[in-house]
Amino acid sequence: MTSYKELGLVNSKEMFKKAVNGGFAVPAFNFNNMEQMQAILQACVETGSPVILQVSSGARKYANQTLLRYMAQGAVEYAKELGKNIPIVLHLDHGDTFELCKSCIDTGFSSVMIDGSHHSYEKNIELTKQVVDYAHKHDVTVEGELGVLSGIEDDVVAAKSVYTSPDQVIDFTKKTGVDSLAISIGTSHGANKFKPEQCTRSADGILIPPPLRFDILEEIEKKLPGFPIVLHGASSVPQDLIKIINSNGGKLKDSVGIPEEQLRRAAKSAVCKINIDSDGRLAMTAAVRKVFVEQPQEFDPRKYLGPARDALKTLYMHKIKNVLGSEGKA
Ligand code: G3H
Ligand code: 13P
Ligand code: ZN
Repeated sequence: MTSYKELGLVNSKEMFKKAVNGGFAVPAFNFNNMEQMQAILQACVETGSPVILQVSSGARKYANQTLLRYMAQGAVEYAKELGKNIPIVLHLDHGDTFELCKSCIDTGFSSVMIDGSHHSYEKNIELTKQVVDYAHKHDVTVEGELGVLSGIEDDVVAAKSVYTSPDQVIDFTKKTGVDSLAISIGTSHGANKFKPEQCTRSADGILIPPPLRFDILEEIEKKLPGFPIVLHGASSVPQDLIKIINSNGGKLKDSVGIPEEQLRRAAKSAVCKINIDSDGRLAMTAAVRKVFVEQPQEFDPRKYLGPARDALKTLYMHKIKNVLGSEGKA
């Protein structure tokens, strides 16, 4: 058993309290490898932002759980070396079983998500409560989910989204004891969120997708004043990155993400954690493809992973400063 406290990590409790009161959201950036972790930490230290290092079960399998434990400890030391002791959470993204959540808690995670949103309401409560009971014994915080996001959630693909019902949130949080709640108000996972034909066009030609359901978010806030809300599927799918990828041999479909102004508005509300994975994947892929096309003689991985890491850092700094509002909140 390794407690996250031995690794110098923190749970999400204090972070969320500050985020709810301060009208900002903590970045939850997914990572699978060293370069992504370095970019996240460099961006968060340079901007003075708290951070949630987010690991999916697929990422945990990819990176190896033992290596991850040492990477998390390394992250704490690396941040200090970069000049700032920022609070760092290691969080399991979309945990789908009690066993997986328990295994993460036992190997140094300070926060876990149990995503029972694909189960019946009753089964979701039962599973979430089981995880909360174990996690709280170890001072680990738990995120639950109500409502279904469309798109890819690890091995589960949901074709249609089901908005969170505000009528269930009080009962769910009371019965489970979760520390934060992920909700569904129109975001979705992956890089293919909205097709251009689902969007309207602004006067200057920008595609605008259907707006997030802020009415549902406001109703939830009224039912659970001050309770930390989480937004998944919050990538914006920057069109300049899609262009770079496709003009350098990529074949990505035309797609539109969540406009950053809408995320900014959400971050000022009870939304205190915003999950971003796909935008990072796009930034990295664009940088790598560019090197491959412009410098085909290169074969040293540092020559393409280095620029990818720099592009990621730039993207994360932009999100922290202009979207989440977490700059200087560490
Ligand atoms: O919400 C899912 C995350 O983007 C993680 O994706 O399961 O492919 O690592 P992954
Ligand atoms: P995106 O696919 O929109 O980046 O969402 C990531 C996410 O919600 C991770 O849990
Ligand atoms: Zn998610």
